[in-house]
Amino acid sequence: MSQPAEQFKKLIAHCKEYGFIYPSSEIYDGLSAVYDYGPNGVELKNAIKEYWWKAMVQLHENIVGIDAAIFMHPKTWKASGHVDAFNDPLIDNKDSKRRYRADQLIEAYMEKLQAKIDKEVARAAKRFGEAFDRDKFVAESPRVAKYAGQLEAVRQRLAKAMSAGDLAELKAMIEEYAIADPETGSRNWTDVRQFNLMFSTQLGAIAGEEGKLYLRPETAQGIFVNFLNVQKTTRQKIPFGIAQIGKAFRNEIVARQFIFRMREFEQMEMQFFVRPGTEMEWYEYWKEHRMKWHLALGTPPEKLRFHDHDNLAHYANAAVDIEFAFPFGFRELEGIHSRTDFDLRNHQELSGKKLQYFDPELQQSYVPYVVETSIGCDRMFLAVMSHALVEEQVPGQDHTRELLKLHPALAPVKCAVLPLKRNDDQLVARARQIFDTLKYHFNCQYDDTGSIGKLYRRQDAIGTPYCITVDYDTLEDGTVTIRERDTLQQERVPVERVAQIVQERVRMESLLRRL
Ligand code: GAP
Repeated sequence: MSQPAEQFKKLIAHCKEYGFIYPSSEIYDGLSAVYDYGPNGVELKNAIKEYWWKAMVQLHENIVGIDAAIFMHPKTWKASGHVDAFNDPLIDNKDSKRRYRADQLIEAYMEKLQAKIDKEVARAAKRFGEAFDRDKFVAESPRVAKYAGQLEAVRQRLAKAMSAGDLAELKAMIEEYAIADPETGSRNWTDVRQFNLMFSTQLGAIAGEEGKLYLRPETAQGIFVNFLNVQKTTRQKIPFGIAQIGKAFRNEIVARQFIFRMREFEQMEMQFFVRPGTEMEWYEYWKEHRMKWHLALGTPPEKLRFHDHDNLAHYANAAVDIEFAFPFGFRELEGIHSRTDFDLRNHQELSGKKLQYFDPELQQSYVPYVVETSIGCDRMFLAVMSHALVEEQVPGQDHTRELLKLHPALAPVKCAVLPLKRNDDQLVARARQIFDTLKYHFNCQYDDTGSIGKLYRRQDAIGTPYCITVDYDTLEDGTVTIRERDTLQQERVPVERVAQIVQERVRMESLLRRL
């Protein structure tokens, strides 16, 4: 197993062992691509949501929040284009009976071409040592040129086929490039066909098409249909935004890679309504602002990058992804889309209700344009966890420790209170007393179920930034030690100051001030 694959496996095991994420209905062998969040997981997920919500709603006077229902009138999805266009190209392997997304099979082929280029470069770097000039080599090597040319040709062909919905061309590409079933090597493929990703259900006692409802595949439409309600009741002037966090559902054809691609997940979306013609300015603004939000967490810049869409969604005139270096490579973490007036205009047409804004400066009414920022909460969770989980040598000692280097504001438990000895009644009573004071300030844990070393290791593994150790000096002089997770530094402080010291270091405000 490659090192990143090994690392990813460890991360999934860690999530389960320490109560972050469990497979859904595990006693029945789980449900594919559905997961449950455990006690530490729900705390971390709530902290991510709080960081996003405060960054959007609390820090922007012109952004307000809503919480729309998951079920929406079925016409919503006709107007939004999801009934007709929210499809993925599906292909089956006749021998293995496995189902794939045709575009993803071709993307995997492109990754192999890229790997060949990387291999050539790595080989040359080894051969030339310090004198190696990467750019010169890439520009002059005939082999690299050959692979790069092939890669670009495939990329362009795929983008064209996807924009045109040309399923025959996708099949032709799979055959021409001799793409095999990744699991079995078989090349015995069916034709490519469209598969709509929306889950449907029935409303009450109404049978048939009339009672057909969809589980929302994005939260955005709840915002669009409430645009005028919100604008009128909050008297917002354009430009203004509406933010929402909520569940979304997609019947993904291939749902792998843990919580990266799920069938039930949570989105954090913000629609920013702007004057037509100003959308590209706001698009640039939100691109920069959202990248800042990621970087403020301490994520190294080389783990994040922008990726412009080759293949625009049915509603967008410009779109970019913020990609993160997941253990399985750079993948989409967040999308920023300029959605024009596509959604509001279609809702206006289908509902027969005017969805316009009277602009007092221009003295005219118009259907606003929209710039959207959309991030999956679960995907953000995975990004945070995969960056935070490290195994490191304990300074000055001969063993390693598993450490979750979460930003303190996101950590599920902010502080643990640990008696130095678990079977000393006086220490235990004093530690409990301290815990009972601290629990009113932040999420705090009391633990006396092991030796102090074991207790520290357990807290390191769930990312607790501070451990308060209660020892014999505490009984004498009323001081405790605060152990800092990453540096392992210990400071001795009076008990009365602990709440304030920890509070200052773990509060969300420190993160928000970096934006
Ligand atoms: N409203 C626009 C929209 O939904 P999207 O690119 O389809 O755009 C936005 O989704 C974000 O939602 C993605 O960047 C990703 O973080 C998250 N997301 C989408 N599908 C997902 C899935 N199946 N599982 C987990 N997260 C998903």
